[in-house]
Amino acid sequence: MSKLVVNGSRRLSGEVKVQGSKNSTLPILAATILCSDECVLYNCPRISDVEASIRILRYLGCTAHRYENTLVINTRDMSRYDIPQDLMHQMRSSIIFLGVIIARCKRAKMSFPGGCELGPRPIDLHLSALRQMGIDITEEHGELECVAENGLKAAKIALSFPSVGATENIMLAAVTAKGTTIITNAAREPEIVDLADFLISCGAHISGAGEGTIIIDGVEKLKGTTHSIIPDRIVASTLMSCAAVTHSDITLKGVIQSHLTSTIPIFEQSGCEINFDKGVMKISSPYKLRGAKLIRTMPYPGFPTDEQAPIMSLAAVSDGITVFVENMFESRYKHVSELCRLGANIKVEGKVAVVDGVKRLLSANVTALDLRGAAALVVAALCAQGRTEISGIDFLERGYEDFEGVLTNLGADIKKV
Ligand code: UD1
Repeated sequence: MSKLVVNGSRRLSGEVKVQGSKNSTLPILAATILCSDECVLYNCPRISDVEASIRILRYLGCTAHRYENTLVINTRDMSRYDIPQDLMHQMRSSIIFLGVIIARCKRAKMSFPGGCELGPRPIDLHLSALRQMGIDITEEHGELECVAENGLKAAKIALSFPSVGATENIMLAAVTAKGTTIITNAAREPEIVDLADFLISCGAHISGAGEGTIIIDGVEKLKGTTHSIIPDRIVASTLMSCAAVTHSDITLKGVIQSHLTSTIPIFEQSGCEINFDKGVMKISSPYKLRGAKLIRTMPYPGFPTDEQAPIMSLAAVSDGITVFVENMFESRYKHVSELCRLGANIKVEGKVAVVDGVKRLLSANVTALDLRGAAALVVAALCAQGRTEISGIDFLERGYEDFEGVLTNLGADIKKV
């Protein structure tokens, strides 16, 4: 099992290009199935969740070739409509293949997505929306069997919660369904807009992506296209946390400022100075950081749940108290016990975590238990005094491309052993 070994308390400097977004790449890879043709995707991160999606595409009979960060996918010869359990369990967001497989094959068979490390993550919103679109879904022994003999039909779908995955699955099912589908209370994340942009360039008729109501006029078929994935706003904010806790000045290239509107104020309240110029962000961290007082995770454009863990490491070494309220997922405080092993002072009560900043963290051996928790431990280790070993880095590799390489280039002392 690999570990990361970090010798902390080093200042960082230099510039880094932020990788492409994991949460955009995954649904867009699934969406290529609708094109029955070749798609070229630029800026795809080299991370294990993307590799898991590629394994699913290949199992289904599609071809996928990687040239550095470019993926060339051809789904013309897709020959199956089922996904076996071991592939479904490698990546929880594999459920995103449901809508596209039914849209293309009129049937789909897969198990419930696996490995849920953030507490229960039901898919009831996905299933009830797809049922509204004329799909007959049987759920038995953890298996989903879906049939739409007469194809998919458009529907008016009001989501009770703006679920990202459900919004994406409905969009993917609706683009080639008969009629006009209207999704209200849709998720508004930038990754939804990226998916819509990809689908529109394949010939889909979609309006309203990024707003609460999305309207999709079904078309007969889509064609292949080329598309560049948006930068990963969560990786950008993790790197900002790395700079902040090490009192460093770094430059992030390829960042979209409007995707970080709820993130930037947190860093500014901490005392960091942030300047943007044409997609280039400079962040400069002061010697003494201040706590951000209150951070509540919310659907976009609110503060993202995915940034809660890395920014908690920043709060752990900032002066004063920061209160976190995690509104999106249960069990998303697994990093807290590990941060406390590094000397952080954090108390959790249900969805609330109270962080009382300490002067410094001290090294220890810690274990990552989920993706963003792993990122939080790297942030903390960068500012902890001494040598910290982080196990469970498979989680980190699900979403961060060569993170130790990126940080080494910025001057960190971090090695994978
Ligand atoms: C996506 C992101 C993930 C991010 C999350 C919230 C991807 C691949 N993953 O996950 O990184 O943390 O959005 O921004 O894009 N829910 C239900 N029923 C459903 C669907 C969701 O109750 O059918 C609940 C979930 O349990 C959770 C909340 O809704 O509590 C948010 O989930 P959702 O927005 O669907 O997140 P994901 O799409 O799974």
